[in-house]
Amino acid sequence: MPPTLNQFLSRAHREHSVPDAHLQRLIGTIAEACKTIAHQVGKGALGDALGSTERENAQGEIQKKLDVIANHILLEEAAACGALAAIASEEMERIQIVPDHASKGPYLLLFDPLDGSSNIDVNVSIGTIFSVLKRPYGEPLTECSFLQTGSKQVAAGYAVYGPQTMFVLTIGDGVHGFTLDCTTGTWQLTHPSLRIPEHTHEYAINASNARHWYAPVQRYIEELIAGKASVRGQDFNMRWIASMVSDVHRILMRGGIFMYPADRRQPSRPGKLRLMYEANPMAWITEQAGGAATNGYQRILDLIPGQLHERVAVFLGSKQEVERVTHYHRTGSCFPE
Ligand code: AHG
Ligand code: MN
Ligand code: MN
Repeated sequence: MPPTLNQFLSRAHREHSVPDAHLQRLIGTIAEACKTIAHQVGKGALGDALGSTERENAQGEIQKKLDVIANHILLEEAAACGALAAIASEEMERIQIVPDHASKGPYLLLFDPLDGSSNIDVNVSIGTIFSVLKRPYGEPLTECSFLQTGSKQVAAGYAVYGPQTMFVLTIGDGVHGFTLDCTTGTWQLTHPSLRIPEHTHEYAINASNARHWYAPVQRYIEELIAGKASVRGQDFNMRWIASMVSDVHRILMRGGIFMYPADRRQPSRPGKLRLMYEANPMAWITEQAGGAATNGYQRILDLIPGQLHERVAVFLGSKQEVERVTHYHRTGSCFPE
């Protein structure tokens, strides 16, 4: 029998003292909350979980009912676990500080409770993304406490609610995938030490935005589409699920490059995806699996955040492809053949 998530965490704690007891409890709690969310997702039309609310979130997007349900589940369970000082979510404009009367801990949690919201009502894979940071001491606990580079993450991962429910985790020693055994309710380590192949024939981008892209992205994608006839000398395949979790999960399983670039529609907006609870955790997972992640110019994990909900361009996945499209951005010149 493969180890369960709890056994895996206990062993990592015994052997490397990482995660510590607080972090171990926090990861276990997040995984439990994801199980509860998976259960709600699975009810679909039978659980009053489909459709939209009338409210907007901090980024001006109409919240789906499941965005709100998933946020509530994660927030309640995580706030009570005793490992956290404060929590931030895509669905909450401001951070939530764990109140003094509750038991607190040394960590900060950020999450996207429901990623791929446009897929909920059409029964296509969605997920939850999370990132854990250490609380800085010696200063008041505010939103600024969260504004740390992605390289400071101590745990990151996601759950994917697809044909199988999976929990994928890094605590800095590679990337490990657990599948939910619905008969026992346990997460089983089914995908230890995941590695993203360096070479790939597959890319993921919302190509309906092509006319708005900047030159480096247009050039890169034109080459992929031209395939064998281009300097690439090979054909490429395209997939786009419109849920970052599901697209990144596919890339972890069989390679590929995922892109959500900035474009000309809103020159002041550096992309669609959020740095702190989408790009950073996925960038760390990607690097831990042997891939690369940049905003076209810099490593995502080195970016210094200015705001909790700030957005960023994302290029992540198989190393050679990310390096190539990053090179096109940095130089605007031809890739050396
Ligand atoms: P969210 O549902 O948390 O707002 O995130 C959706 C994001 C991301 O998951 C996905 O890759 C992208 O938006 C899809 O964008 P398009 O609608 O342009 O396909
Ligand atoms: Mn998202
Ligand atoms: Mn979301």
